[in-house]
Amino acid sequence: MTKTQDLKEKYGPWALVTGASSGIGEQFARLLARSGMNLLLVARRGERLESLAQELRRRRRLEVEIVTADLAEPDAVDRVLAAVGVRNLGLLVSNAGFGLKGAFAGMERSRIEAMFNVNARAPLLLAHALLPRLQARTSGGIIFTGSVEGEVPYPFSAAYAATKAFVHSLGMSLHGELAGTGVDVLVLAPGATDTDAITLQGFKRELMPGLMAPAEVAKQALRQLGKVPLHIPGAENRKYVSQLRRMPRDKLIAFTAQAMSAAIAASSGEQG
Ligand SMILES: NC(=O)c1ccc[n+]([C@@H]2O[C@H](COP(=O)([O-])OP(=O)(O)OC[C@H]3O[C@@H](n4cnc5c(N)ncnc54)[C@H](OP(=O)(O)O)[C@@H]3O)[C@@H](O)[C@H]2O)c1
Repeated sequence: MTKTQDLKEKYGPWALVTGASSGIGEQFARLLARSGMNLLLVARRGERLESLAQELRRRRRLEVEIVTADLAEPDAVDRVLAAVGVRNLGLLVSNAGFGLKGAFAGMERSRIEAMFNVNARAPLLLAHALLPRLQARTSGGIIFTGSVEGEVPYPFSAAYAATKAFVHSLGMSLHGELAGTGVDVLVLAPGATDTDAITLQGFKRELMPGLMAPAEVAKQALRQLGKVPLHIPGAENRKYVSQLRRMPRDKLIAFTAQAMSAAIAASSGEQG
């Protein structure tokens, strides 16, 4: 998909974007609005969603609805689906997510459970519920935001990386299952991107050179939808992952363990 009007033609008139209150999801919303698509925006911070919705309605003359929902809550997916209702929805951008870094054993169970629900359970159930209507239209798309951490094991990010590996397997399997049906599925696997997620995970932004702009990440995903099963934005990120994939597994795990523990230590002011 290269032209914005093509997006609306194939995936419109309605798109659902989760995690649209900031970062990559907000940029997905802005790009889809530019293509003329009506939007249903989901996140917890309703005031941010509402101000984005008002701006997009005013500038683009679109229908933009918001759903304030915590996707960690078991009934949130059903609330989102109720809001979708009978709208002619052709695109699901399952993007909401967050990460926990550090030693797995030291993490609070409630935080791990919330992360699993947001990063893995919600994408699984949203895709399952919405796919039949995309198939009935014989045109539609699903984008799952994963991570480079979904491609390889990542000690000290074990639970987060596992939720992303789940989404990578789900998305790429569906890409194959739906080949030739008119429903496109893409796993977007960003590397470090300049969003709130960096500081929310405890990293210092100034210690992370080469962060990608979230608008560029979202733009690349929309371009690659319908072309490939998985897209890693950024040549440097693609090179990094392909080097990791070629390593013997024991060396790879030792390497990512060292890289992640050094990054955590640097941001917490300890020696790497
Ligand atoms: N930034 C990176 O370096 C990076 C790298 C690889 C992958 N990713 C992935 O990219 C996706 C977007 O993250 P981002 O980088 O754009 O960070 P972000 O700015 O923190 O955006 C995360 C989005 O997810 C929403 N979200 C988080 N917890 C939620 C919950 N319990 N219920 C509903 N919505 C929730 C947030 O909204 P509310 O807080 O308003 O709920 C926000 O809109 C995530 O899946 C993340 O794992 C990011």
